[in-house]
Amino acid sequence: MALYTDIVMKHFMTPSNVGSIENPSGVGEVGNAKCGDIMKIYLKIEDNIIKDVKFETFGCASAIASSSMATELVMGKTVEEALAVTNAQVVAALGGLPAHKLHCSVLAEEAIRSAIKDYYDQNGIAYDPALFPAFDEEEDENEEGVRMV
Ligand code: FES
Repeated sequence: MALYTDIVMKHFMTPSNVGSIENPSGVGEVGNAKCGDIMKIYLKIEDNIIKDVKFETFGCASAIASSSMATELVMGKTVEEALAVTNAQVVAALGGLPAHKLHCSVLAEEAIRSAIKDYYDQNGIAYDPALFPAFDEEEDENEEGVRMV
């Protein structure tokens, strides 16, 4: 059986929403200290709706596919709906990930949440801090084997 589903391969080879957004409403950058992968998500939010979302990921195929799928899942959603997107939903939408690659999807969930937190902070919007557990924002980890998108 193939390690990756066709959906993962498609989102790895031709990812959606790659890039950055000028004057974003919120930016989230998270990293995994163990593998060194880094994911950055940009959000454009108008009237509480995610009008645009882009990503830059220095990471493995699963991280890139997870980023791509996560951006598709939150596009057009309300901020609250985007906040409710979990890594399990990302994995399900990808048709599954190998067990040792599940942390790549966690990075996608965290990057979205981190970008929303930044949006809240920038706009003085009150929120429950419990919604945002501490993220690992290490940027200078080992970048061995990284692939830039
Ligand atoms: Fe660490 Fe994929 S994000 S190996």
